Amino acid sequence: MWRKALVAALLALAVGFFYHGGPDLQEHILQYIGLPNFPSSSLRLNSKDSLEHVISSAWQTLITLPTQQWSKVAVGVNACVDVVVSGVGLLQALAVDPGTGQDHEVLHSKEDLKEAFIHFMGRGAAAERFFTDKETFQRIARAAAEYPGAKVYVGGNAALIGQKLATYPDLMVLLCGPVGPKLHEMLDEQIVVPPDSLQETDEYHLILEYKAGEKWGSTQAPQANRFIFSHDVSNGEMSSLETFVASLEDFQPDLVVLSGLHMMEGQGRELWEERLKEAVSAISDIHKDIPIHLELASMTDRDFMNSIMQEQVMPIVSSVGLNEQELLFLSHAGEGPHADLPAWKGIPDVGRVSDILLWILEEHGRSDPSSEADLTRIHFHTLAYHVLATVDGYWGNQAAAVMAGARVASTQACGGQSVDISKVELRAPLEFHSSHTEPRKKLTLNPAEPVTVWRRGNVTFHLTPVLVCKQPLRTVGLGDAISAEGLVYSELKTQQSF
Ligand SMILES: *[C@@H]1O[C@H](CO)[C@@H](O)[C@H](O)[C@H]1NC(C)=O
Repeated sequence: MWRKALVAALLALAVGFFYHGGPDLQEHILQYIGLPNFPSSSLRLNSKDSLEHVISSAWQTLITLPTQQWSKVAVGVNACVDVVVSGVGLLQALAVDPGTGQDHEVLHSKEDLKEAFIHFMGRGAAAERFFTDKETFQRIARAAAEYPGAKVYVGGNAALIGQKLATYPDLMVLLCGPVGPKLHEMLDEQIVVPPDSLQETDEYHLILEYKAGEKWGSTQAPQANRFIFSHDVSNGEMSSLETFVASLEDFQPDLVVLSGLHMMEGQGRELWEERLKEAVSAISDIHKDIPIHLELASMTDRDFMNSIMQEQVMPIVSSVGLNEQELLFLSHAGEGPHADLPAWKGIPDVGRVSDILLWILEEHGRSDPSSEADLTRIHFHTLAYHVLATVDGYWGNQAAAVMAGARVASTQACGGQSVDISKVELRAPLEFHSSHTEPRKKLTLNPAEPVTVWRRGNVTFHLTPVLVCKQPLRTVGLGDAISAEGLVYSELKTQQSF
């Protein structure tokens, strides 16, 4: 009994502590222990008839699992622990004094860290840096994880996709990646980690946050942002890839999900050129009958992106998940449609998105059955809507899959378990075109049946809007959750013969 009482007392203390810790921490608590949310005062009177309500109810009835469901999914290979902490608070705890800022391309010491942090905090700009000294980094990471109010999360696309898949009790999930003790403890029990993937220390990514107007010494942040740094060698080298491929033999998955290619970019050209070749060769060893989904993440090097397309990563996978930045960047790197567009302005135009998706499937995919490429599916996500583009004859249940992904985006960003109509809004256009250039078809979105379908060549497009969270709590990992959910609701048609 005394044990229970002690736990209760500690919990009360902890909650009490957090409640005095400021609004962010309260949100954090609400998000993680699931206290009931109070009805929002901004609830619209006619919310029952709102478009948001109509769409959300339609999703509830129209999203159904496919007849053929996956039973075993293998996910690899980037995984880490994200620690989100107050930047100024952590640096003070490390006993460094404020001073003048200076950028460093790589960080060698606490002093470098402080100077780079001040440099970016003063500008309110996001930045990510590599910390070279392993021992010092481990000490800082430990201090960060123990800092009062630090939030510790599962990080890395593969681990996040694994976590989402593990919410389906009938699905066996294998996760390969650098899994240390802390990450292992946080992972869902259902996830199997092969012994070769376990390592003694975690790969920590430290995310130093600061608020708009926050001051340290003579530096003041013009806006809220974050400074990220790590000493992450395993993920940078994709060191788990070979183990991952080797473990598939035993595990016999019916779907493979691959991510973390983008992490190699940070190593510099010589290293990634070499490593990418090895990666392609490892991926090619995966049995041809097992579909591979590749989750892309932000890359900045055009040559690297080009290599991913041309050195055959795209053609040897069956499915790709990406967002609007990655989509446009692919077109820039490969001189595809709308490559002259420097960046999207506001909500990406559906016609342009459709043009680039079609180009990828025709140039690097299997839109022509005589092509050598395997790529037949692209799950595109942007804030306001998602599109699932598939080559005809290979995939089923696309409408449910794209809606399921959008429902997760609409739910998870607000931190809830289901769509809360009072907290979301429709931002997708209700009218758009199948292409940016002629000949094009005018298309509309029907909220009561919120999937618009169109065809071009041998490719079918399914679009559904997102109910965008008005005050998102945490958007990291949203793309991973969308892709994972979309895969759970997708099925492979079996009749094709290669
Ligand atoms: C579409 O598929 C047909 C065969 O079914 C093929 O002849 C044609 O070239 C394909 N079109 C494109 C644009 O790949």
